[in-house]
Amino acid sequence: MATVTFDHATRVYPGTERPAVDQLNLHVEDGEFLVLVGPSGCGKSTSLRMLAGLEDVNGGSILIGDRDVTDVQPKDRDIAMVFQNYALYPHMSVADNMGFALKIAGKPKAEIRERVEEAAKILDLTEYLDRKPKALSGGQRQRVAMGRAIVRQPQVFLMDEPLSNLDAKLRVQTRTQIASLQRRLGVTTVYVTHDQTEALTMGDRIAVLKGGLLQQVGTPREMYDTPANVFVAGFIGSPAMNIATFKVDDGVAHVGAARVPLERSVVEQLTDADGGKITIGFRPEALDVVPQGTENSMPVAVNLVEELGSDAFVYGTLVGPAAEEAEVRSGAGDNQVIVRIDPRNVPMKGDTISVTIKPGQSHVFSAATGNRLS
Ligand SMILES: Nc1ncnc2c1ncn2[C@@H]1O[C@H](COP(=O)(O)OP(=O)(O)OP(=O)(O)O)[C@@H](O)[C@H]1O
Ligand SMILES: [Mg+2]
Repeated sequence: MATVTFDHATRVYPGTERPAVDQLNLHVEDGEFLVLVGPSGCGKSTSLRMLAGLEDVNGGSILIGDRDVTDVQPKDRDIAMVFQNYALYPHMSVADNMGFALKIAGKPKAEIRERVEEAAKILDLTEYLDRKPKALSGGQRQRVAMGRAIVRQPQVFLMDEPLSNLDAKLRVQTRTQIASLQRRLGVTTVYVTHDQTEALTMGDRIAVLKGGLLQQVGTPREMYDTPANVFVAGFIGSPAMNIATFKVDDGVAHVGAARVPLERSVVEQLTDADGGKITIGFRPEALDVVPQGTENSMPVAVNLVEELGSDAFVYGTLVGPAAEEAEVRSGAGDNQVIVRIDPRNVPMKGDTISVTIKPGQSHVFSAATGNRLS
């Protein structure tokens, strides 16, 4: 087992100017499950491939344990990778698929058999060892791909969207299996996904990337409770956080009738560049539905009600005096506000509801930089 360190690691692809990964600094603890997450093209796979040795590092270095592996061949890094497209060899049995890397490495047959059987037991694949991949379900094939990595007993597992070939239900099952398997084996793991739910449920810590730049690293709770900037705020959490522009007067942020008192330390951080404005984020679950006319409340016209059984969400538009200046953004699109409501008491499409932000549940960011102010 080992730690993993990216030290100002940079990758500029030939023929491009902007780094795909720009001065990445990241330390993964021994035995930790770290999830790299971010939108398509943000540099997740590139980071993982640099760690694997499949991509040149143009600046900075990469360490596994205390060993600088920046210029070490992939096969000498003692890692095992599970790809999104984990094509198994169709003509080989499950056992041969799992043991293939060991065979190539010239390990004795008996040892291969032993390691394969051990991995099969862990993965619940024992009874399928003699089958061909085509006679397996999608989830079983995915476990064989995991098995191929496990038998190598590497210092680090690298996984790049290993669940994306599975249907939604199987993905949820398999993600808990992988997470608990990793905890059992205790092997340091770097896991790539674009799915923030996967990141929140699987990772000991999450690293969010955007445009090749690391935005924030933290535990799932830290990412949810104290996002470092507007991007992370909007990315982590489902449905996404509502984000709006408020005006600031006398230490109070306001838009329409809604008012959010600001801490003095926040007000002191505002600069001329902010232009008397502040960006405020409030999650769908941070809103209370209140009687119309309640002080500080904002009217929301209901466009859609999404009922999920245990939860219900209103997708609506801010109306009234706040509507234009608020510049609301959310995961649902511009000018959309998402409100979590009592699933036993849902409004109708076309209704107008009034909402207030629960005290202490707003996130404040600089309007100019998007960085967190509290
Ligand atoms: N071989 C390449 N040559 C040039 N540019 C590349 C190459 N591979 C990737 N890129 C660019 O580098 C950036 C990061 O790509 P990367 O594959 O790391 O993204 P990603 O975060 O894994 O995205 P996705 O979620 O879509 O897999 C993208 O802008 C991509 O277009
Ligand atoms: Mg990728």
